[in-house]
Amino acid sequence: MEVITARSAGFCFGVRRAVDTVYELSEGNKKIYTFGPIIHNETVVNDLSERGVGIVDSLDEIRGLDPADTVIVIRSHGVSEEIYDAVSGMGFEIVDTTCPFVKRIHEAVRNASEDGQEILILGSPDHPEVQGIMGWCHGPVQIIENVESARSYKPLTGRPITLVSQTTFNHKKFEDIVEILISGEYNVNVMNTICNATLTRQNEAEELASRADVMIVIGGKHSSNTRKLYDICAARCEHTYFIETLDDLNLEVPKSVRLVGITAGASTPQNLIEEVQKEWKN
Ligand code: F3S
Repeated sequence: MEVITARSAGFCFGVRRAVDTVYELSEGNKKIYTFGPIIHNETVVNDLSERGVGIVDSLDEIRGLDPADTVIVIRSHGVSEEIYDAVSGMGFEIVDTTCPFVKRIHEAVRNASEDGQEILILGSPDHPEVQGIMGWCHGPVQIIENVESARSYKPLTGRPITLVSQTTFNHKKFEDIVEILISGEYNVNVMNTICNATLTRQNEAEELASRADVMIVIGGKHSSNTRKLYDICAARCEHTYFIETLDDLNLEVPKSVRLVGITAGASTPQNLIEEVQKEWKN
């Protein structure tokens, strides 16, 4: 039996940068709080908690802290301009680990909306990254999540539209939605802001899943990019499994397995991927 792990499995550049920054900060004297869990991975979050790193989920929680000796870390998803300004207005030191690729989207939507354009975001309305992007729009904005909502889309104004996407949006879905919008003859400036790390990860996973007898997708149950990876793999490989930890590896797998493929979401640490790999090889 052969076990192949996709080269792009695991932490992307932006997540690694954010996690490394928090580990470095935890060595200092100030109290560190991340605004929301730094990644969707309980092992890493628990480890950071043991090193004294706390999590705050709202501005109200931040208000209860002492700005004099507290650092607030913005995670790679980014936050809205309002939250950013509110935290800095309370006098806290902010360490902003918003991924530069997400930052670029914030700047694009802010500039386009200040120019009077309407903004259209392709993504999940509940996802913190999408909420953050919305929060940098200074004018009308709508979110499209799927092909169905693209079909019923109506612009809010007659102005030009700038379209961006969540960095982890599915590239096939992106193309389908753009095609629908273009055929609607709207004046749309399309910016494909899907991150390359996501695209590479999705392409490699799809290629591996189409050859594998069993496909293992590792990631946090709340991680939307891992869920999307799972969907892509499941469409190609009947025996695709979503696991979060080694404990989930008790799988009912078919008897004659020749190739096992492994991939992992952007917040899955390398050591977990290696452990899963080792389990299969044993
Ligand atoms: Fe950044 Fe792309 Fe990762 S946007 S956080 S490098 S998935």
